[in-house]
Amino acid sequence: MLEVKNLMVFFENAIALNDLSLEVEKGKIVAVLGSNSAGKTTLMNTISGLLVDMKKKEDRRGGERITLLGALKFEGEDILTIKPSLRVRKGIVLSRERHPVFRESDVVENLKIAGYLTEKHKVKEEMEDVFQLFPHLTKLRHRKAGLLSGGEQQMLAIGMALVARPRLLLMDEPLLGLSPAIQSDLARAIRDIHKKNITILVTEQFARPLMPIIDRGYVIENGMLVISGTREELADNPEVRASYLGV
Ligand SMILES: Nc1ncnc2c1ncn2[C@@H]1O[C@H](COP(=O)(O)OP(=O)(O)OP(=O)(O)O)[C@@H](O)[C@H]1O
Ligand SMILES: [Mg+2]
Repeated sequence: MLEVKNLMVFFENAIALNDLSLEVEKGKIVAVLGSNSAGKTTLMNTISGLLVDMKKKEDRRGGERITLLGALKFEGEDILTIKPSLRVRKGIVLSRERHPVFRESDVVENLKIAGYLTEKHKVKEEMEDVFQLFPHLTKLRHRKAGLLSGGEQQMLAIGMALVARPRLLLMDEPLLGLSPAIQSDLARAIRDIHKKNITILVTEQFARPLMPIIDRGYVIENGMLVISGTREELADNPEVRASYLGV
């Protein structure tokens, strides 16, 4: 479904992604594991197209030079340079790391805002699906997003991505900073999302809460691919066990 080939991203002369290649097969849950500044967010921004927007902005104000090389294909079509909204229409939707939900708007309003590219009657359906997926949000419908806990905001951020009707859902560190109990709740929710026929690419620093649900994973360090394999292969790899599973 998604093919990343020899991707290179430079911020000025610093290299953020270095000759990175990976594939996401349709119907799978794929993880990208990497420590701080490994390049996880840069990869997600490249796939969702946010990087193209950043690059345009920087070029216009004569700021930092962002260079983007390589190939990015979605269902065989080259999408490396098309704008983010077009990618959303194709079904590529990003749930960003620590997404700044609209703090002054309530939960329902946030979901509506997120559905601006979706047909109105479908937004309603999708919203009900979100409340089914996260029953906990139901009683918080009219609470301002800024007053939600970290875990609740993360549920909302994921809900906002779902309202845009993804076929490939990109999740950048959805478990970041949450308690182990909430992390396993969210991992379960990710599995439920996957059951709705949504392919998932998810990044994390620590693999443990994700391991039970992924089909395969890639480990990146300094923007480079160092290990890849199925869940079983990763779970058996001593390096992965030491650095990403803490065993
Ligand atoms: N806008 C930018 N300008 C300059 N350098 C950047 C920019 N964005 C990212 N970088 C650099 O690119 C590298 C990869 O950063 P990135 O944010 O993708 O890592 P990450 O894996 O998401 O890290 P974290 O776990 O902290 O979220 C880092 O060295 C970072 O400093
Ligand atoms: Mg990041």
